[in-house]
Amino acid sequence: MSPSLTVRRIAADQGAVFRELRTASLREAPYAFGATLEDALSADAASFDATAVEHAVSSSVGTFILYTEGHPAGLIEAHFDNAGERRAFVCELWVAPAVRHLRGGELLVDTAGDWLAGAGATEIYAWVADANRTAMRFYEALGFGPTGETRRVARPPGQAESLLVRHVAPPSEASQQ
Ligand SMILES: CC(C)(COP(=O)(O)OP(=O)(O)OC[C@H]1O[C@@H](n2cnc3c(N)ncnc32)[C@H](O)[C@@H]1OP(=O)(O)O)[C@@H](O)C(=O)NCCC(=O)NCCS
Repeated sequence: MSPSLTVRRIAADQGAVFRELRTASLREAPYAFGATLEDALSADAASFDATAVEHAVSSSVGTFILYTEGHPAGLIEAHFDNAGERRAFVCELWVAPAVRHLRGGELLVDTAGDWLAGAGATEIYAWVADANRTAMRFYEALGFGPTGETRRVARPPGQAESLLVRHVAPPSEASQQ
């Protein structure tokens, strides 16, 4: 039987859980993220506590945690950038290998996307490393497409990432009544 998967916004007192998930993601999938495991391991616990507090209540940034049978098993960040257009992004997505292919990633992206849409976003963006073919196929399967925008990344040297976008479906007539 498939384990039941749920997603909830991080709580202010979950700094330790956040640290555990971040270090697990950087250890298991270093190719997917801009930060390094060393960065996370050298940061003090208080910085994770402070991030959890902010991401639990802020109206411009949030972290959402995936649970399998009550155990933390993945995460995603959602935020609005500070530039003039105030674009909405999802990032830092990771699902523990033991629960992959069970739609946990989809649940994380949809929950984070719903939160961004509820705060006014009409488009949800995600930067994905060109070499990360699994993440590319994953986001494409969820309805994301290329924007044509690319940028070089510092690590690994010489690599690039592409900006993908998914348009938020307008509310149906039924839900507007
Ligand atoms: C990318 C990732 C989050 C996907 O999580 P997941 O929970 O396994 O994904 P889901 O089960 O929700 O998959 C949804 C759909 O995405 C596609 N997909 C997922 N994994 C895939 C893979 N390895 N290859 C091709 N398509 C894939 C499939 O279409 C899948 O639907 P299906 O199961 O009906 O075929 C996970 O592989 C991961 O954490 N990878 C390492 C970190 C990473 O790359 N993060 C992204 C940074 S941009």
